Amino acid sequence: MKIDVCYTPDLIHQFDIKDKTVVVIDILRATSSMVAGLGSGIQSITPVATIEECEALGRQGYVMAGERSGEKVAQFEMGNSPFDYMNPALKGRKVATTTTNGTQAIELSKGAKEVIIGAFLNLNPVVNHLMKSNNDVLLFCAGWKGRYNLEDTLFAGAVCNALKQNAEFESDSALCAFFLYQSMATDLAYYINRSNHAARLSKFNLREDIEYCAKLNEFNVVPKLIGSELIV
Ligand code: MLT
Repeated sequence: MKIDVCYTPDLIHQFDIKDKTVVVIDILRATSSMVAGLGSGIQSITPVATIEECEALGRQGYVMAGERSGEKVAQFEMGNSPFDYMNPALKGRKVATTTTNGTQAIELSKGAKEVIIGAFLNLNPVVNHLMKSNNDVLLFCAGWKGRYNLEDTLFAGAVCNALKQNAEFESDSALCAFFLYQSMATDLAYYINRSNHAARLSKFNLREDIEYCAKLNEFNVVPKLIGSELIV
């Protein structure tokens, strides 16, 4: 098994993903919320790139969710907080979501052998899935508007650390993510709270979201993209 890391969607063109398992990572907060929602009974989550696509699914009875630059889209029923997604009223419902970075990365992953969703909330289930599938892996960080971010790379490093005995790091991108994780593993929440996006979210009084997204292994699910839907 080979493993590599793509730090932002702007670099995805450098990778051949057709035979790989792509793990899409957007810790604050898209993939954390998707794991929390599907782990709490949402039937499926359909990630779309635009607000208009989300509204079209809303007219078909989907719950509309999402944000732009961290703030809830005004006309949607919910934003992108994991706490929104864990609402018991959503059990059995289909949700359509669009976010600033996470859903764009999922869109760019279509064409991979397999697309799964990773977060600290399902770290061990993701690692176990990768071990079982034994495909080569690309850890795909959603970043921020085409730029690198700390928290997504930190999660990629956590996966590299967990697989270091079984996988070959394909490039310095994987090696650097691994070393970053090794330098911060003792207090993930401390470092994630100092990221750029944590600062943005704090302006919207969303500190609880940041703390929650740094928790490990809250859910034993690995969302997988089947057609246009994420299911578990
Ligand atoms: C993203 O797409 O980067 C996140 O969903 C942004 C957020 O939830 O604040």
